[in-house]
Amino acid sequence: MSDSTSPATDGFTAGVLVGSIRRDSVSRKVATAMAGLVPAGLTLRPLRIDDLPLYDEDLDDGPPPAPWARFRAEVRAVDAILFVTPEYNRSVPAPLKNAVDVGSAPHGRNVFAGRPAGIVSLSPGRMGAFGANHHLRQSLVFLDMPTMQQPEAYLGGSDEMLGTDGTLRSDAVRELLTGFLTAFDVWVAGHVAVPA
Ligand SMILES: Cc1cc2nc3c(=O)[nH]c(=O)nc-3n(C[C@H](O)[C@H](O)[C@H](O)COP(=O)(O)O)c2cc1C
Repeated sequence: MSDSTSPATDGFTAGVLVGSIRRDSVSRKVATAMAGLVPAGLTLRPLRIDDLPLYDEDLDDGPPPAPWARFRAEVRAVDAILFVTPEYNRSVPAPLKNAVDVGSAPHGRNVFAGRPAGIVSLSPGRMGAFGANHHLRQSLVFLDMPTMQQPEAYLGGSDEMLGTDGTLRSDAVRELLTGFLTAFDVWVAGHVAVPA
């Protein structure tokens, strides 16, 4: 994946928001593996969310905390957002919901607005974090992010998905994610916001 400061060049750049902030996150490793499956012209750029102070409306009355300002600028610098997330208690993990809230504020300055989105959810269980995937979609409707509907990506068995070297063990999962990213690239091309 590209670093967070390099400018977008040809094609599209999608910022990647990973819903788990733990060191050995399977979601992050899968997001990293996905960077090797993108079609030509699509770049995945990881965006940091683990240092964002909890959203507090009072803090938007003055200069925002530096990590909020950085994150908002990073979202503005990408064409699209790809979410790769596990599920916590049948919903979106708090760090990811916090990032969504930080980027959406202050009122009228939602940096996500108009940016196409895709969601990959994953879980050790068989439901592939369906609950997180669809709770997130609910927020993205309000944030005015055109979110790819098909193909869906609910990945079960995430605890068995990666080899010790961090690569995807299953050809079927690799093919599913390759197809997802190919469709996402087309989705982004069709929905990317016209630069202001
Ligand atoms: C607080 C908490 C709540 C969880 N709730 C769910 C859940 O609702 N559904 C689910 O499939 N897994 C749930 N899990 C298990 C996660 O899917 C699992 O820990 C997963 O590996 C986290 O992804 P990561 O490896 O990217 O951190 C939960 C885990 C935690 C810590």
